[in-house]
Amino acid sequence: MYPALRVRKSEAEEVRKKLFEIRAVDGERRFIRRGDWVEIPLREGSTEKAGIYGEIIAQKKPVFKERPPAPFELIKKSLDVPYPDILPRKWELFGDVLIFRIPKELEEYGFDIARAYAEVLGAKTVLRDVGGIEGEYREPMVEFLLGDDAETIHTENGVRFKFDASKIMFSSGNIDERIRMAYVSNRRETVVDMFAGIGYFSVPMAVHSRPEKIYACEKNPVSFGYLKENIGLNSVEDIIEPILGDNREVCPENVADRVIMGYVGSTDLFLPYAFRALKSEGIVHYHETCPEELLPDRPISRLKSAAKSAGYRVIGANIRKIKSYAPGIIHIVVDAKIRPWNEENMP
Ligand SMILES: C[S@@+](CC[C@H](N)C(=O)[O-])C[C@H]1O[C@@H](n2cnc3c(N)ncnc32)[C@H](O)[C@@H]1O
Repeated sequence: MYPALRVRKSEAEEVRKKLFEIRAVDGERRFIRRGDWVEIPLREGSTEKAGIYGEIIAQKKPVFKERPPAPFELIKKSLDVPYPDILPRKWELFGDVLIFRIPKELEEYGFDIARAYAEVLGAKTVLRDVGGIEGEYREPMVEFLLGDDAETIHTENGVRFKFDASKIMFSSGNIDERIRMAYVSNRRETVVDMFAGIGYFSVPMAVHSRPEKIYACEKNPVSFGYLKENIGLNSVEDIIEPILGDNREVCPENVADRVIMGYVGSTDLFLPYAFRALKSEGIVHYHETCPEELLPDRPISRLKSAAKSAGYRVIGANIRKIKSYAPGIIHIVVDAKIRPWNEENMP
């Protein structure tokens, strides 16, 4: 049954407002006018509360609103390529820069494809992802398909990130972690972000948690330039101190209540420096990419043994999945609570 409320045309506007307030209107169907009467479509389950305003009827011929065509359908329609069904159905849109993979069979149509996607999705530049993220600086392997300027401003969770998407990664799969980290700190804390990049964690944390201080270390001069810009763009100069260099050399020592280790590959090798950054008791957010069958033991035992060598111990560890990294490999983060290893707190 498609329930609707039948009301006089003269009362329809007044009743419509009331029904919207109580969330009784079915947004999928159109209002239908029949002579002096109007049928207002109702959501299932809301007939009782709506019934006080008129007569409840069951529409035999409901009229549904047209759905706007999904972007992919629009793009597909506008392109004349041999295998339209293998056109990219997934893409990343950062500000006005678009990134996607193109299957080999469609390589020669790259420019036309890029233009069609750019038009529908509103991008100035289109990049082709040719090899994921590489190396110590975690740089994206991309080629320009359309345009030549990949610098953009991407807004997420009220934070503005400026970066050049042809030179610097931005992982959409880490969005939940960026949002979570934005709120884990507080005004009393000093934080050290060992792998700050363009400010993926530092800037949202400064904007939303406003800790006393964040030391943000970054080795890649290009990322560092954007880190500085993003600190200014988000007006958190009073909180974040950007530090250029290798965290093993430039990371401040004995200052942190919280250390962020947002890097994957060989993060465990940096644990001694994370412990050095800690004031005494604190939290270390340790990232790792780990084969599923080694979870949760491998990251926890790495943390425990590095803590012990540094004169600390792990008194609590909470492990969270961030995303699937590769088949069978999971990107995880451990929130490890750390205390100095001394006589008093020995088990
Ligand atoms: C790309 S970020 C990781 C992304 C982040 N986890 C996110 O949410 O998307 C890692 C950063 O660490 C930097 N980096 C790598 N080794 C470093 C080191 N030894 N010292 C300081 N920065 C380093 C890289 O240049 C890169 O900018």
